[in-house]
Amino acid sequence: MSNSRKRDEVLFNEVFKEISPKDIKNTMEEIDELVMIYSCAIKEISTKLEILDYEFKISRKRNPIEYMKSRVKSHKSMMDKLLRKNLKPDIESARKNFDDIGGIRVVCSFLSDIYEVADMLKRQEDITLIKEKDYIKNPKPNGYRSLHMVLEIPVFFSDHVEPLRVEVQIRTIAMDFWASLEHKLYYKKGERIPLYIKNDLKECANIISETDMKMQNIQMQVDELG
Ligand code: GTP
Ligand code: MG
Repeated sequence: MSNSRKRDEVLFNEVFKEISPKDIKNTMEEIDELVMIYSCAIKEISTKLEILDYEFKISRKRNPIEYMKSRVKSHKSMMDKLLRKNLKPDIESARKNFDDIGGIRVVCSFLSDIYEVADMLKRQEDITLIKEKDYIKNPKPNGYRSLHMVLEIPVFFSDHVEPLRVEVQIRTIAMDFWASLEHKLYYKKGERIPLYIKNDLKECANIISETDMKMQNIQMQVDELG
């Protein structure tokens, strides 16, 4: 049994003391199925990204993707989000209301790689773009930058085809560095972070963005050397 499965079961037994073990077992099975189907959707899109990366490497002699990370949202964070949004806290409601049960983070080398990778994905026949937010052209007020897309892809199971949505976040190494540390700082102290620290963090995001642009220029100059 996986660690997250064990964690979910403990959580269930603690929170829903009044629910029968049979219902808990059913819910656990529903969670297993949800994790399975979203892992499959993630696999489909990850494979497409790996193919694009490989093709790019052969044609341009370098990989646009540094690394990728993926995850299926944990049951706890799904339930927390449903409660936060005043939605019914069950699996069906999560499937209906969330586009980010399955998520892939794609970390690219250069700024232009982000848009090339995104365009190559969007052009594929079996992919539908549901939503796109460009936090690079329009950074969040705190300085956060990334390109977010919700993509829908049909996944073929033994007896049916299911269109599934996956949230894809594409960013440079520098943006990922900032977002990881910012997340870590907030996770520890939350809203207790004072304004002068928020301003420092934003300044770091701006410096990083300038560096990304400089690196992009250097990359173009190196390319021109032939
Ligand atoms: P929710 O999914 O309900 O949060 O709303 P949304 O879909 O409008 O969110 P959005 O697309 O803006 O961001 C979703 C994800 O992007 C988050 O779960 C984070 O992974 C990442 N993200 C967004 N804003 C920030 C930020 O300020 N800092 C960091 N570190 N990550 C962020
Ligand atoms: Mg989201």
